[in-house]
Amino acid sequence: MIEAISKNFFLKVSQNKSMNKAARKWGLRFGASQVVAGETIDTAITAVKKLNKNGIVATLDHLGEFVSSKAEASEATDYCVRTLHAMASAKVDGNLSVKMTQLGLDIDKQFCLDNMRKIVSTAIQYNNFVRIDMEDSTRTQITLDILKELRKDYDNVGTVIQAYLYRSETDVRELVGVPLRLVKGAYKEPAEVAYQEKTDVDKNYMTIIKEHLKSGSYTAIASHDHNIIAKVKEFTNQENIPTSQFEFQFLYGFRNELQQSLVKEGYKVRVYVPFGDDWFGYFMRRLAERPQNIAFAFKGFFFK
Ligand code: FDA
Repeated sequence: MIEAISKNFFLKVSQNKSMNKAARKWGLRFGASQVVAGETIDTAITAVKKLNKNGIVATLDHLGEFVSSKAEASEATDYCVRTLHAMASAKVDGNLSVKMTQLGLDIDKQFCLDNMRKIVSTAIQYNNFVRIDMEDSTRTQITLDILKELRKDYDNVGTVIQAYLYRSETDVRELVGVPLRLVKGAYKEPAEVAYQEKTDVDKNYMTIIKEHLKSGSYTAIASHDHNIIAKVKEFTNQENIPTSQFEFQFLYGFRNELQQSLVKEGYKVRVYVPFGDDWFGYFMRRLAERPQNIAFAFKGFFFK
């Protein structure tokens, strides 16, 4: 009961535009620095170097969502392009994750597609890959439409499918051959479109993971849930699916020991490294997912 209230509270706050705006001025607060790598490209690259040293690859995410002007979206696009250049010149092993609401999705679809083309075409120069994060269900279809357009010209782009949505099994079947990150889903969704019970989400999660793996498509399993990870290991062993066809993904700062033990066992592990001054919405969603995370928010209340 308390868990549900706190989840709803943090998810609501995560979308509050004025709090998001105010937080940009505060700097990394409330313990956010434990899950956000820093505010600049340089700090993010330093974090990636550390991960690489430990046998872990990365995906960098310049934090930001819900921009309301074309100027802001163009600025965010340039920042993504600069991040790709910086990763290449630092020779770190990492790709890029983007949120299309930061790139003008809610302003103009064609403008957002053009911005995505700039990013994906830069990535291809470096033989690098761009992952389109999946946002709330009102944007699922448009995200998949843009992905389809991009994939006509580029194969170095993929997206994310969320197990809590009823539509996801069909989406995964239609996306055979597309590298997908599969997740449980992080937004508050109504019962009309999404499973509400954790057991149903977990069941559908394994269904879509198996479906995508069995189709021979590259699959990223992005979950902190050790039960899911154990089931994936068992399934891939049974079905003789090579470790080169999938990877486990974690968010920066979460389950570091589990990450390392998977690396030791020979699995590919990628850590999602968020950075930038627009950290508030991301941090609030992490608090919504796991009330235990609130402990470090309180610890960090007075400190950066
Ligand atoms: P969940 O939160 O359901 O936890 C299950 C169990 O695992 C817990 O009960 C506990 O036992 C254990 N556990 C979980 N966290 C733990 C911890 N920190 N320490 C110890 N035990 C822990 N979402 C989305 O909508 N769009 C997206 O694009 C992405 N992208 C993305 C990338 C990456 C790399 C990750 C890891 C996640 C996302 N997500 C996402 C978020 C995702 O949808 C989901 O909300 C969170 O990962 C939480 O679900 P989990 O599967 O991690 O386990």
